[in-house]
Amino acid sequence: MDPETQWRDVDSYLVAETVAEDDALVAARASAREHGLPPIEVAPNQGAFLSFLAQVAGARRVLELGTLAGYSTIWLARAVGPHGHVTTVELDPRHAEVARQNLDRAGVAAHVDVEVGPALDVVARLADTGVEPYDLVFLDADKASMPAYLDLAMRLVRPGSVIVGDNVVRGGGVADPGSPDPGVQGVRGFLHAIGTDPRLEGTALQTVGSKGWDGFAVARVR
Ligand code: SAH
Ligand code: DHB
Ligand code: MG
Repeated sequence: MDPETQWRDVDSYLVAETVAEDDALVAARASAREHGLPPIEVAPNQGAFLSFLAQVAGARRVLELGTLAGYSTIWLARAVGPHGHVTTVELDPRHAEVARQNLDRAGVAAHVDVEVGPALDVVARLADTGVEPYDLVFLDADKASMPAYLDLAMRLVRPGSVIVGDNVVRGGGVADPGSPDPGVQGVRGFLHAIGTDPRLEGTALQTVGSKGWDGFAVARVR
């Protein structure tokens, strides 16, 4: 059996044993396919992992960049609880529309704001408006701008806040310093900042599974 098939089989097993996806989460993934959105939402066990992080961090306010169909948003919105809040930012109005339907069906629409626009603009505006700090920030929009997103996010966090970055391994591409892929270069800048910014401590982990070979970075604001 080729490794990718094994990764997939093991992911299916892990999800079957440990992840309780309800109808709304299943429907969110299905609706993404029906509307022709790319199949790049976090895997079910990754959604559960985001929820786990938000809960151990005691997060009440979450900022997500990159909504797609709202699949990860639902996990995060449930993790912050009915008194929590999620702001999620999406460039594509079609994605945002699909996400709003999915958030509604999941019963979390009342405590999620879907902001439509380029994440750089939206997050800069949030920072300039002086919103309350976020307890957890999930960076999952375009990868080329990851260093800029981290810079902006630093204006919107407090000591103890958690920053999570998705797709930081990119099939191994991240280890190539000369990569012409702007996504790889963005992720490399992001990881370098996590390792060198005295305001942060964090690391990155590789993952294999139904989304191939990739990884998460996690950082905590000192
Ligand atoms: N977090 C989602 C997946 C996000 S996929 C989940 O796991 O369920 C990445 C999303 O980022 C796409 O919907 C894409 O349209 C959006 N995106 C790309 N560039 C962006 C930008 N500059 N600003 C905001 N969103 C962006
Ligand atoms: C892509 C984006 C993602 O956020 C992801 O988890 C996987 C793939 C992409 O743009 O290809
Ligand atoms: Mg991603």
